Amino acid sequence: MLLLLKTSTLENSMEETYSLSVLQIAVIIVLASYLLNKLRIRLALSKAKHPSLRGHSKWSRRLAKQVKFFEYSNKAYFSTDGAPAEITQQRQQGFQRLTQRMVKQSANTIAFSVNLQASVSDLQFTSKYRVPFPFSRQLPEAFTVSNIVKKTKGTQIQDLDGNWRYDLSGAYGVNVFGYEFYKSCIAQGNKRVDDLGPVLGPYHPIIADNVEHIKAISGLDEVSFHMSGTEAVMQAVRLARYNTGKKYLVRFCGAYHGWWDGVQPGVGNQRDVNDVYTLNDQSEKTLHVLSTRKDIACVLINPLQAFHPNADSGSDVGLIASGRATNFDKTAYSAWLQKVRDVCTKRDIVLIFDEVFTGFRLGYRGAQEYFNVQADMVTYGKTIGGGLPIGVVTSSHKLMKRYKEKQPAHVSLARGTFNSHPYVMATMNEFLTRIQGKDIQLKYQQIESVWDKRVTHFNDRLQAASLPLKITNMHSILSIIYTKPSRYNWMFQFYLRANGLELSWIGTGRLIMSFDFTDEDFNQVITQFIIAAQQMLADGWWWQSRNLTNQTIKQQFVYDMVSVRFPLLANFLPSPLVNKNNFLITKSIANSNTSNEGKDIKVFDSVNVDKKNGSADNNRVNDCTPNTAAKRTKTMSKVSQ
Ligand SMILES: Cc1ncc(COP(=O)(O)O)c(C=O)c1O
Repeated sequence: MLLLLKTSTLENSMEETYSLSVLQIAVIIVLASYLLNKLRIRLALSKAKHPSLRGHSKWSRRLAKQVKFFEYSNKAYFSTDGAPAEITQQRQQGFQRLTQRMVKQSANTIAFSVNLQASVSDLQFTSKYRVPFPFSRQLPEAFTVSNIVKKTKGTQIQDLDGNWRYDLSGAYGVNVFGYEFYKSCIAQGNKRVDDLGPVLGPYHPIIADNVEHIKAISGLDEVSFHMSGTEAVMQAVRLARYNTGKKYLVRFCGAYHGWWDGVQPGVGNQRDVNDVYTLNDQSEKTLHVLSTRKDIACVLINPLQAFHPNADSGSDVGLIASGRATNFDKTAYSAWLQKVRDVCTKRDIVLIFDEVFTGFRLGYRGAQEYFNVQADMVTYGKTIGGGLPIGVVTSSHKLMKRYKEKQPAHVSLARGTFNSHPYVMATMNEFLTRIQGKDIQLKYQQIESVWDKRVTHFNDRLQAASLPLKITNMHSILSIIYTKPSRYNWMFQFYLRANGLELSWIGTGRLIMSFDFTDEDFNQVITQFIIAAQQMLADGWWWQSRNLTNQTIKQQFVYDMVSVRFPLLANFLPSPLVNKNNFLITKSIANSNTSNEGKDIKVFDSVNVDKKNGSADNNRVNDCTPNTAAKRTKTMSKVSQ
């Protein structure tokens, strides 16, 4: 009896155990498959990221914080590539000559800039970020801060000292048709609304014509006006999220969409951005993510990336070696955009073309026409304002909607005091009307092949002159490529400037050409460019050695960086260009201009450190600074008028 009772209790408890286990197993299976699915989706996303740091925003920000400032002393500055003494001396003398020449040429402009820089933060930033940081603090001000101009005439721009330079900066892309065109749009536009003044809220009737033009050009239904390209992008993304109910924005590696942190998850942004995926351009893995995830609201494309897919626009601050490259293939990029178009249509993802740069440049209908793909939403900016500040969003009625009929409190807010400013609307109208003209429409047909031919001719002349340079282009946007390894390519921007060629602060990576350049103008640009390059060559900056490759330059840079951050670790790394034993990190130095900041600056000195002076020289590499120039000229106040 007792035995029976025991057996049945045992069976019961076994049954219980057994039935509990089935439940547990079921839960485990469901959980595991859920987790596996999550993992699979996450893995697919990881695979679709570009392998570089640019593709990993959070890591790039973390690592950026670890990079400590260091610089090369006067002695090391000219020989960081291991150049021998005679080349070092050649460079030093060339540097001195160039500084004196620039100061002499533009003394008033530089002095004015120096003064202004103390109070204008943008100037401080742009001056600092023109060249790789280990070389920046030592540059004379003459090289970094002459940003003051007062006149344009055709393709040229004049500084305060009366120097005319060909403008290759394109006013950040605004200047498509030449400054005279925009001056006239602004003047005529102002006249047309002079009776109104800055009335905001109510619109001047001119707006209606602009709207019709933009609808026709974009192929879309509705328009909203904003004050900048950045704001247009903010609004486009906000509307895409609002009208799809989905969270994520997909952007492509290297693409710039303005300075809103919501589209800039990497370096430069202090906020954690958790609703943006930065994916690999022109990649099947990216298409896979787009076609499988349910949470993607929009894909944001800057069609300018066709010029350098997955890479930032070439800025001289990043010219550590000669690795800059572009890779424009119109057919391949058009095919890629079509694939993105198809997957977006299938998955109800909003395809946004950010045409703030490419709009009205690549064609009358911008990148949509150039690559033959229709977007769901388009942003415009820069040139469409006819020379005044602007941002535009255009899309379908459905996607532009800012409220829900059945949820009155569920709205998407977008305002902006200066939106649809009458002077901007009138100037824009001048722009949009004038570009309908036969002459401009004809220009649109011809301009790409004009620039292609000019660039071919440019390269022929560079080759004939045996210069280590090549020009690449996408339409009217050019880039300077350095064909031999060098640590000093960033110097070239200053030779160009001294020889009458104006660049934007990012330097030689992007030349933005206006359509009013004639062949004659451009031949003159080529001539001045070649003279500048010959001077740079003669001054020894492009000295070559068997040891000097892009790889050894990068290794040397890593060595320099690591030596500052982790001196012990540096013992295990190669220092391929400079003799390790002679390459000393000196103690920190007191810095007269930057007080506390200067205290932990590390200075590299490639040869003997001068024991008497303790550490490496803290002065700039020569003393032809514009401060000296300012003292010499004493014309500051007069110039300011
Ligand atoms: C593609 C693109 N989007 C957005 C912006 C931001 O425009 P803005 O500088 O007018 O704010 C830029 C500016 O360069 C741009 O090139």
